Amino acid sequence: MNDLNALPADFTWGVATSAYQIEGAVSEDGRSPSIWDTFSRTAGAIDNGDHGDIACDHYHRWREDIALMKKLGVDAYRFSIAWPRVVPGGSGQVNEAGLGFYDRLVDGLLEAGITPFPTLYHWDLPQALQDRGGWPVRETAEHFAAYAAVVADRLGDRVRDWATLNEPLCSAWIGHLEGRMAPGLTDLTAAVNASYHLHLGYGLATQAIRAAVPGARVGIVNNLSPCEPATDSDADRAAAVRADGHTNRWWLDPIHGRGYPQDMLDLYGVALPERPGDLETIAAPLDWLGLNYYFRNVVADDPTGPLPHAKQVEAPGRRTAMDWEVCADGLEQLLMRLTDDYGARSIYVTENGSAYPDVVKPDGTVDDPERARYLEEHLAACARAAGKGAPLAGYFAWSLLDNFEWAYGYDKRFGLIHVDYETQRRTIKGSGHRYADIIRSSARGARKAA
Ligand code: FCB
Repeated sequence: MNDLNALPADFTWGVATSAYQIEGAVSEDGRSPSIWDTFSRTAGAIDNGDHGDIACDHYHRWREDIALMKKLGVDAYRFSIAWPRVVPGGSGQVNEAGLGFYDRLVDGLLEAGITPFPTLYHWDLPQALQDRGGWPVRETAEHFAAYAAVVADRLGDRVRDWATLNEPLCSAWIGHLEGRMAPGLTDLTAAVNASYHLHLGYGLATQAIRAAVPGARVGIVNNLSPCEPATDSDADRAAAVRADGHTNRWWLDPIHGRGYPQDMLDLYGVALPERPGDLETIAAPLDWLGLNYYFRNVVADDPTGPLPHAKQVEAPGRRTAMDWEVCADGLEQLLMRLTDDYGARSIYVTENGSAYPDVVKPDGTVDDPERARYLEEHLAACARAAGKGAPLAGYFAWSLLDNFEWAYGYDKRFGLIHVDYETQRRTIKGSGHRYADIIRSSARGARKAA
């Protein structure tokens, strides 16, 4: 694609997954339950009563999955490390067998010429810590840093890039306020406290990783959405400012040393559990910012509705199986905002992708032209932003494999590779082949081939 020429010559082409969504083997080698094991056993929480007990069986099939990544030609793999495998009690005793799995995975990736890009927390808090209060309590942030140090000590001789948290917004707002994700609470005070301790955990873990791994490059992954008013009315415009505060500024301002946005503190009306020095810890200088982008929000004022009193209205674009609007311009806008308003020095698109109801045809192939088009449009948006000066270092397609899509279970397929859950057979979809072509024809791909 010629319009991708603006991407830097050393652009990282990647794919992403997360532990609970693909690994299975939930009680193997000493892994303890996480809040997602518990939540997925809660009646009505997950579509079809699905859970991650087996998922893509990646815990046993990781060699095959690395071979598939090699076929796609990716440079890097963003995966997550399951805290309940490494420190099953949440704090204290380290489980050698659990750590060993990631040790072998990292070696396997490096042998295949693929850069490991681990995320330390993709929502699977050890249930033992939830039982002691979870993210709403301060100790969880401290335990997170201790766990991060264990992993960094072990893998730091081979891993340079570290993602601390994935989408703290979802952990705090969806998990503690909306109740649609683990731990399934609907409590504003718990949600605000959770958001604060997630940030604190990020800051402490960043220090721990840097202490263990000289030269580590540490980042955080946020899911952001441009928030636009449905109409020009003052009420809708104010709703869009609130939605932006709830979705974007609350998650970006503190880590950039700006503290928590005052308008949102006023709106939530919950005192932060702040101690002297915390805000400095939370504002640890970032090596890179991760952006997960799926959709924009078009909102109208909703004074009696749930916080932030802004309801999403139907946006005009095409829609995916998640009923999310396809809007690649939103990605370009966010990349420019991180660059211009937050002074980002290096940005990765750490997730971006789409769900469609794919089927394997009798000839054994999977045609998913809509996903391929989504991918091309969003990569073009990345290139436009790079052309305008965004320091974009790479892109990770969500996802390598179809997987356990949280509350939606297995029905929503995001993979570049189809998974037949009966047989665990993997089939590269049309979009996966398209991604491989794009990578091959990029500057870096051409260099690799030469
Ligand atoms: C993101 C999550 C990821 C995946 C995609 C579709 O919010 O980080 O695990 O479920 O959405």
